[in-house]
Amino acid sequence: MTNKNNKKPNDKNSKKDVGLADDNLLAKVINLTKRRGFVFPSADIYGGFRSAYDFGPVGVLLLRNVKETWWYSMVQTRDEVVGLDASILSPPAIWEASGHLENFTDPLVDCKACGVRHRHDQLEDKDTCPDCGKKGEMTEPRQFNLMFKTSAGPVADSGADVYLRPETAQGMFINYGLVANASRKKPPFGIAQIGKSFRNEITPGNFIFRTREFEQMEMEYFVPPEESPKWHKYWCEERLNWYINLGIPKDMLQLREHGPDERSHYSDATSDVEFKYPWGWGELEGIANRTDFDLSQHAKHSGKKLEHLDSETGEKYIPHVIEPAAGATRAMMAFLIAAYDEEEVKGEKRTVLRLDWRLAPYKAAVLPLSKKPELSKKAKEVLELLQPLYMVDFDETQSIGKRYRRQDELGTPFCITVDFESLDDDAVTVRDRDSMEQDRVTTKDLVKYLAEHLKNQ
Ligand code: GAP
Repeated sequence: MTNKNNKKPNDKNSKKDVGLADDNLLAKVINLTKRRGFVFPSADIYGGFRSAYDFGPVGVLLLRNVKETWWYSMVQTRDEVVGLDASILSPPAIWEASGHLENFTDPLVDCKACGVRHRHDQLEDKDTCPDCGKKGEMTEPRQFNLMFKTSAGPVADSGADVYLRPETAQGMFINYGLVANASRKKPPFGIAQIGKSFRNEITPGNFIFRTREFEQMEMEYFVPPEESPKWHKYWCEERLNWYINLGIPKDMLQLREHGPDERSHYSDATSDVEFKYPWGWGELEGIANRTDFDLSQHAKHSGKKLEHLDSETGEKYIPHVIEPAAGATRAMMAFLIAAYDEEEVKGEKRTVLRLDWRLAPYKAAVLPLSKKPELSKKAKEVLELLQPLYMVDFDETQSIGKRYRRQDELGTPFCITVDFESLDDDAVTVRDRDSMEQDRVTTKDLVKYLAEHLKNQ
């Protein structure tokens, strides 16, 4: 989150907004993701709608897998964390209390010569327009609030103002008491949420790195005040390891502590998990110690008590909050970049997405060697055997070589070829995406084979 007191040198000074075309890896990933159906520019047939993207048939699967692996690690496998799905539309009172109405701003300048807007804090030469190159034409910086405002109901007067949430976090704070009572949880415990957030970014860019509509995966971890440094450290390590465990090489990740001048208005300590993007290091996730800022503010503004009563000691306190805040769409981009690989196989270039099997859109693809009806029928039987267990692709177009290449670009861990011999021996050929080695496996053993080999890939 950015605000007038909060400057993020690494986020803003990275070369991210200087254009993608000269960045080969990013250009290749963007090209592949459009061609293969991961990510499309929104409103493509109308020339595109800046800073919004649509997720295609395989993109939607990858994004779901990112969110599901997060949910698995943050909620399913922890008995002290529960989920929430709060509304996106929200009344001004929330944003008044949270400080977003006052602080959630970026400094904006206009070039009087060409009319292009810039973030003042991102300009290296504050006096020169990076678009038209004119000097001395920049306006004075103005604070620009990043929240999208709309109106609810039939009358668009100020009483009907509502905001699209710029972070999912506030949903967890305003529901703290209801969730704690309903779930019988006491600190330390967490509330997790995945959902869309909206920010009217002045300089969206670098593909899905910074968009105006994006998805967040956030967890607010409520702890006794004196335990907050310990939990902050714990969550920094947990979150870094989550990315490593899902296949991002360690040398593409780092933890960076924010300096006091770059922290958000609510934060006492923040560390970012940073990723080595093609344009340099930048934020992937932020882990903040939000102290009791949010609960105290909401208690003050709503008049409701948001505190914990320790039944053993009789002590009352407002819990402090540690917040690991990740972007689902930004994480998806990092996984794509880290997984992208090219190699030469028998004199030809092979492009392969070496995605962890848990993230891969399809776990397997069933490929009948030809379109002959008896092969199609057998292949459909194999497909139906696997469909209840995994997302599985089925492809009977083009040569088998081209179909392998397509699946490599989708990151599919295993291709299962059904050939004429399969009709006799009831076996299929299973090809491993990474090693390209092949095994002959009977259909009877196929489910067990995949279960074992997917985990080991
Ligand atoms: N609740 C705290 C919070 O929202 P943040 O650092 O502003 O903190 C958390 O956002 C994460 O959300 C970021 O690390 C990033 O992954 C993602 N994110 C933030 N703004 C984004 C944008 N405009 N486009 C895509 N992802 C974004």
